[in-house]
Amino acid sequence: MRAYRVYAIQKGTVIDHISGGCALKVIQILKLDEFNQVVTVGMNLESKKMVRKDIVKIENKTLTKDELNRIALISPKATINIIKNHKVVEKFRVEVPDMMENLINCPNPKCITRNEPVMSKFKKISEKPLTVKCHYCEKAFSEFKII
Ligand SMILES: Nc1ncnc2c1ncn2[C@@H]1O[C@H](COP(=O)(O)OP(=O)(O)OP(=O)(O)O)[C@@H](O)[C@H]1O
Ligand SMILES: [Mg+2]
Ligand SMILES: [Zn+2]
Repeated sequence: MRAYRVYAIQKGTVIDHISGGCALKVIQILKLDEFNQVVTVGMNLESKKMVRKDIVKIENKTLTKDELNRIALISPKATINIIKNHKVVEKFRVEVPDMMENLINCPNPKCITRNEPVMSKFKKISEKPLTVKCHYCEKAFSEFKII
């Protein structure tokens, strides 16, 4: 068996190839810090595919594809590995979801979502460059902040 930088798990989810330094943001977006969830993190590890990568290992939990795809906004190259009996049984790349609720802060200061307690709602309108459109003010943006 190979030696891992972050210890091996019997069952769960490994989020690999997270952009270097973004692991804590991934944990926050997936709300892993809010549950009694065992999570191990490696940051700024060396990688053949990337300059530096982060890795997050979540024990005994499988998240839905919709939940996992939320992290595509901050780490488009992330790969998800589902682990069962210590082995990778499924591997896929994250994709930016078509609809995103409560994930993006609308950059328009006049938008209702910035002034009233309304959850933001965005639609992906183009992939490259990534452009999203606010459901409320109907403006399109390719630069925005994650909530
Ligand atoms: N049982 C396990 N517990 C914890 N992490 C694991 C386990 N098995 C694999 N991993 C991690 O999951 C990721 C994917 O494992 P895999 O064996 O597919 O590596 P790989 O061949 O480097 O894959 P990739 O081409 O996606 O980089 C690696 O970061 C590896 O460290
Ligand atoms: Mg690898
Ligand atoms: Zn808006």
